[in-house]
Amino acid sequence: MQQKEVDFLVIGSGIAGISYALKVASYGKVLMLTKADEDESNTKYAQGGIAAVMYEPDSFYKHIEDTLICGDGECDENIVKIVVEESKERINELISWGTHFDKTESGVYDLAKEGGHSEHRVLHHKDNTGFEIERALLAQVHAHPNIEIQSHYFAMELITQHHKGVWVNSQTPGVECYGVYALNLKTQKVEVVLAKTTLMASGGCGNIYESTTNPVIATGDGVAMVYRAKGKIKDMEFIQFHPTALYQPGKHPSFLVSEAVRGFGAVLRNQSGDAFMEKYDHRKDLAPRDIVARAIDNEMKTRGDDFVYLDCTALNNDEFINHFPNIYNKCLSLNINLFESYIPVVPAAHYMCGGIQVDEYGRSSIQNLYAVGECSRTGLHGANRLASNSLLEALVFAHRAAVHASGRINSIVFMQGIPSWNDEGTASPEEMILITQSLKELQAIMSNYVGIVRSNLRLKRAFDRLLILHMEIEDLHERTTVNKALYELRNMIKVGYIIIKHAMQRKESKGLHYNLDHFNHQVRRKTE
Ligand code: FAD
Ligand code: SIN
Repeated sequence: MQQKEVDFLVIGSGIAGISYALKVASYGKVLMLTKADEDESNTKYAQGGIAAVMYEPDSFYKHIEDTLICGDGECDENIVKIVVEESKERINELISWGTHFDKTESGVYDLAKEGGHSEHRVLHHKDNTGFEIERALLAQVHAHPNIEIQSHYFAMELITQHHKGVWVNSQTPGVECYGVYALNLKTQKVEVVLAKTTLMASGGCGNIYESTTNPVIATGDGVAMVYRAKGKIKDMEFIQFHPTALYQPGKHPSFLVSEAVRGFGAVLRNQSGDAFMEKYDHRKDLAPRDIVARAIDNEMKTRGDDFVYLDCTALNNDEFINHFPNIYNKCLSLNINLFESYIPVVPAAHYMCGGIQVDEYGRSSIQNLYAVGECSRTGLHGANRLASNSLLEALVFAHRAAVHASGRINSIVFMQGIPSWNDEGTASPEEMILITQSLKELQAIMSNYVGIVRSNLRLKRAFDRLLILHMEIEDLHERTTVNKALYELRNMIKVGYIIIKHAMQRKESKGLHYNLDHFNHQVRRKTE
């Protein structure tokens, strides 16, 4: 059996994992495991940019207020303050690592605006900010002698006392993480990676829905692993749907049309050509995302339409092409000249606001396990994330977790006596159809019953249907030699189950969780 020992283990190579790795690498050996190509991540596809308070008239106060309003009363104010106040320092670091953000002719950063922001404060690199960040960070990783990055390694399970034969349940105090079991996707062998500290930076879970902006890697693995290891998970009912994914039925993932396009002046219209957002919110097209996505959903459902339009026809052509070249070219490739015709758009699952519960240093409830980025729940986003706050959150918490973990690393010892992976009595998968069909069922259940608008009955139905999928996948898992598709499906079913459970527990409509049987809160918000 292959067994590795490292000081700092990092699961995931998006902005959270890489920026943490770059910081802890001065204090010990770092191993990053990532399940696909090293740059494949939600980070790579980020378009709009990264929010930060750079210049007056913006202020910490305004960014904090915008974040709190968007989070609909569910944010942790202390965390919001920390993230906003540390934003500029982290951005400067990102720039020092080689990231380029667009500037105006006068040499200051060109700040964009998105929904829920009262000021222009979004730093961007054209409309492919995430690609630029990922490029710059990976270049730093490659140059660092203390960081080893292993792609096509799939982290399956956290190693805890459970694997040493100690019974662990959710009430067990002091569950400890000793590393992970990981499937080497090139050899299909399970390896043990022992680590003094482990960082979960495995991103989101968009693929549990039929339509998502997330690439296929976003299957909620980190949340499922921590849940199975009896760690705390919070706020999973708050799944954010981006209002404007390009309408291309059957296309997976969906291409995003950045919210910054609306910040630039684009207007949503229904299929009769009417600008409808003023009916729903005084901030119109730049209202927080939950409100805009719900308004679109309502227009589509009441009119029986499959999509709405985004109208860019009145915008300055040269400036638009300069800021949004990829969106412009993508539309052109589909024969949509967006200066002459409207873009068909629909909401799509985009971001997981909840996740692994962590404190202000990214510490999870499991000892020596940190979680940063989209897989974590810090309290910043509350019931609805403010646009472009997630890249920022990842940077701020990667820094805080790195400071904490590196300060303790010399006091932690490797755990001995960890058994190798036991797959006795299992056989190779006979029929992939069992996996592909269950995935389709899961996506249909989540999309139809646990989407933008929910009800008690829909949630109950989803729960009952998911139980069947859960039993089937656990049975298959018992009998089948591990493989990535099976494990991802198992993780997605687990995450779907947690979302439904948290949604059923919340007896109100709040932010992204809109339940027709608890709508009084929503009425209050509209009249604000
Ligand atoms: P990711 O970047 O998703 O990285 C996760 C990593 O973990 C990947 O490398 C993945 O392969 C790896 N991984 C997952 N599971 C395993 C496993 N089991 N074993 C090994 N490796 C694993 N946010 C903003 O703030 N501004 C934006 O403009 C913006 N635009 C967006 C546009 C799109 C299309 C999308 C999808 C998201 C956007 N977001 C934006 C959200 C933001 O990009 C993500 O929340 C953020 O990049 C998450 O970073 P992360 O490092 O936590 O996770
Ligand atoms: C976008 O560009 O619209 C995405 C921004 C985000 O998700 O924060």
